[in-house]
Amino acid sequence: MSRIGVESAFDVLVRAHALEAKGRSVIHLEIGEPDFPTPPHIVEAAKKALDEGWTHYGPPQGYPELREAIAAHVSRSRGIPVGPQHVSVVPGGKPIIFFPMMALLEPGDEVIYPNPGFPIYESMIRFLGARPVPMPLEEGRGFSFDLNLFRERLSAKTKMVVLNSPQNPTGGTIPAEDLKQIADMLRDRDVMVLSDEIYSRISYSEEPPVSIASFPGMLEKSIILDGFSKTYAMTGWRMGYGVMPTWLVSAVSKLMVNSNSCTASFTQRAGLAALTGPQECVTSMVAEFRRRRDAICAGLNEIPGFRCPIPGGAFYAFPNITGTGMDSKELADYLLYEAGVSCLDGGCFGEYGKGYIRFSYANSMDNLMEAVARIRKASPKWESAVHAHS
Ligand SMILES: Cc1ncc(COP(=O)(O)O)c(C=O)c1O
Repeated sequence: MSRIGVESAFDVLVRAHALEAKGRSVIHLEIGEPDFPTPPHIVEAAKKALDEGWTHYGPPQGYPELREAIAAHVSRSRGIPVGPQHVSVVPGGKPIIFFPMMALLEPGDEVIYPNPGFPIYESMIRFLGARPVPMPLEEGRGFSFDLNLFRERLSAKTKMVVLNSPQNPTGGTIPAEDLKQIADMLRDRDVMVLSDEIYSRISYSEEPPVSIASFPGMLEKSIILDGFSKTYAMTGWRMGYGVMPTWLVSAVSKLMVNSNSCTASFTQRAGLAALTGPQECVTSMVAEFRRRRDAICAGLNEIPGFRCPIPGGAFYAFPNITGTGMDSKELADYLLYEAGVSCLDGGCFGEYGKGYIRFSYANSMDNLMEAVARIRKASPKWESAVHAHS
């Protein structure tokens, strides 16, 4: 247990709530979940399922009808031929980090993963006694990898490579050309790729994000993680899935039997309604996120010492704050306690996240603008330092 990590967003949320309990006003830009309600037709499908008696155990792998719908969606959106036999339905996206890593990793195996990145990757790698090999994300490359460094970090012990695009915490996306080169480097190696595509539908470019699984020879090496939490504002429902080779599906099913038995039956009916029903709810949510992204990034770029790249996906702004002269942890604490803006130190996402702050813009436009105004007001603390150095 000394090796397993946690997610700082939940700790910061607790601290922010403690301040609010004392009567302080706090704007919550720390937690990574859509602020929209789950679309009503999905809620209705769950209520109907409860009335119809979808209240019992189901198959550990997930109901066949839902797996069919997931396979059809993943085949269409990624341009790959997958069937229901390749799908594991699990309670949230996270189990597709937990179970495949548990099934595949042995002590001493090396895992290459993005840093800054979702903290659960490194936590699980360490928990299983494997060796975390961080790939620094490069701000100058839209937070993609340095491919030469990636080649150097591959070794005979590399068992797994974790990719995440669009990415948490940076909002960056990995360009198709980079994925092609990564695929070329991995094709003949005995490695599995965990491709975390949970933000695949929250993308602002014309072209949908590309999956590494769609490159020749990569499907049988890939585990696609996706789910309903972010796309359909269903974080509390715990609905996610993995798409992977059938031999690994069997392993995940065994781990499901030993842990959860199955994913809740009536929520799977809601998931089916989400995937097969109208998709305007997703389109309009993404359009609203884009409006907020443009507004918060413009606002943050006007703050002395902040440099905020425009993210291509997800709902996070990740400004470089080294120009403030403050340490990012110190600055995140200062913003919470002095300005009433709850945000995350980039260092919560790994060593290479230091010097950045993550703001989740899954909050109303009014709150975002108020947050920017509060930060602006707090900036004299570091503004004099910036001027002294420029
Ligand atoms: C990159 C990434 N992967 C996976 C997850 C887990 O999603 P879920 O809430 O469905 O378990 C998250 C949630 O924040 C995430 O940001």
